[in-house]
Amino acid sequence: MNARTYFIRTYGCQMNEHDSERAAGVLETMGYRPADDAEAADLVLFNTCAIRENADHKLYGHLSQLKPLKLTDPGKQVVVGGCLAQKDQGAIAERAPWVDVVYGTHNLARLPALLRQADSAALPVVEIIEQTEAFPSALPARREVAHHAWVSISIGCDNTCTFCIVPSLRGPEKSRRMGDILAEVRSLVADGVSEVTLLGQNVNSYGRDLVRRGEIAAPGRRNRTLFAELLHALGDVDGLERIRFTSPHPKDFTSDVFAAMRDIPAVCEHLHLPLQSGSDRILRRMQRSYRAHRFLDLVSEARGTIPGVAISTDIIVGFPGETDEDFEQTMQVTAAAAFDSAYTFEYSRRPGTAAVDLDGHLEPSLVNVRYRRLAARTRELAGASNARQIGTVQELLIEGPSKTDARRMSGRTRTNRLVHVARHPLARAGALVPARLEEAASFYLLGAVTDAPLDAPVGTPLPAANVPAR
Ligand code: SAH
Ligand code: SF4
Ligand code: F3S
Repeated sequence: MNARTYFIRTYGCQMNEHDSERAAGVLETMGYRPADDAEAADLVLFNTCAIRENADHKLYGHLSQLKPLKLTDPGKQVVVGGCLAQKDQGAIAERAPWVDVVYGTHNLARLPALLRQADSAALPVVEIIEQTEAFPSALPARREVAHHAWVSISIGCDNTCTFCIVPSLRGPEKSRRMGDILAEVRSLVADGVSEVTLLGQNVNSYGRDLVRRGEIAAPGRRNRTLFAELLHALGDVDGLERIRFTSPHPKDFTSDVFAAMRDIPAVCEHLHLPLQSGSDRILRRMQRSYRAHRFLDLVSEARGTIPGVAISTDIIVGFPGETDEDFEQTMQVTAAAAFDSAYTFEYSRRPGTAAVDLDGHLEPSLVNVRYRRLAARTRELAGASNARQIGTVQELLIEGPSKTDARRMSGRTRTNRLVHVARHPLARAGALVPARLEEAASFYLLGAVTDAPLDAPVGTPLPAANVPAR
């Protein structure tokens, strides 16, 4: 008999992508094999996100597309897991009673048992638990690409950003032991991985809970934060070419991490530093405890310490109570920080978060006008940042064929710029190749593989004149 097949659709952030790799690993140990699409698969798993309202709409849309297939083929299994499942719990089974299994963010390991239970159940099997005890890193992962791996260093979040639903879905922050992280990374490298991205909701508070529970001594050796300590330890792993991490929190950012980014060759010159708002009043309402000037100081320190660093960010527009003046401050800080790229979001009301009860919720049309202005500005900054790279030769890690042009391969610079190059014998998936950057757009560059020596990436100068007065 042919093996049963599975297809996973992933919504949301990198943690979810990594969870999907674990779900794939679990299904493959059960004997399932990958299918090309949801229609063909015997089992379809939706790994869901709840961060903004449109993530909810997308899931329910995709689920209803699948309903006719499920009704004509009762052997097909439909599984919903992850953050939206954790949030909506029984409601998913009520809205789509033909799903087989619903599980949350803490019980992926139970998937095989839940699937077996579903075989003999008339109604959806729903299991949501409130907290995990052990760190869920022992599950096998089936990686999407051979050369890159996500590595969890912590799960959950202890912050209380008022807009954010993540802490209620992923629980309190739990760090993984450094020895376990190192062992995983070493075995990944032995398996052909050359780039890792360290994942945590707040990577630079890494290890605090371990100290609190007395599992390790604080502070780290040489007075470094444990996160900097971890970067140094990973920097010594032979064969590991690139280390990335996401996301740090501005309130916890310390100079030793900038120094680590400068001094450890494998740590990439890319910093993702979420601003959220440029207005101190709004930051206070968001319960983000840094202020705009502190954020800009961090940006200056990063640009001053790490040659060529590229800085990306997340910004929310239209948070409750945001006035025109608050928004103008976000525009000013954005210009002053001269972000190399930015993810911009319209504020989305998430029941269960503290922001829902704040006054001053804004009309969506007003939020959208502001959103479009900010997005245009960040696009412009990104285009200018990419344009400064033209003529330089930079190292690309080739990811695979370009998604839009079959004649090209796509890769990323150390600064995380997406570059498409003409096909070349050296430009194979997983290869590190020098490429001359020739043309720039806001979200990508075009270039060609070359044997010329590498140049340093060109950093973004701080437009000092735009820095808002303190
Ligand atoms: N832990 C990460 C953020 C994870 S969520 C951090 O602190 O950086 C990713 C991004 O989604 C956030 O940075 C924020 O910009 C955005 N976001 C979160 N909740 C949102 C909401 N209710 N509406 C709009 N955007 C939101
Ligand atoms: Fe959400 Fe804030 Fe935690 Fe990030 S740091 S996950 S935005 S609560
Ligand atoms: Fe990630 Fe979405 Fe959950 S952003 S943590 S998958 S709510």
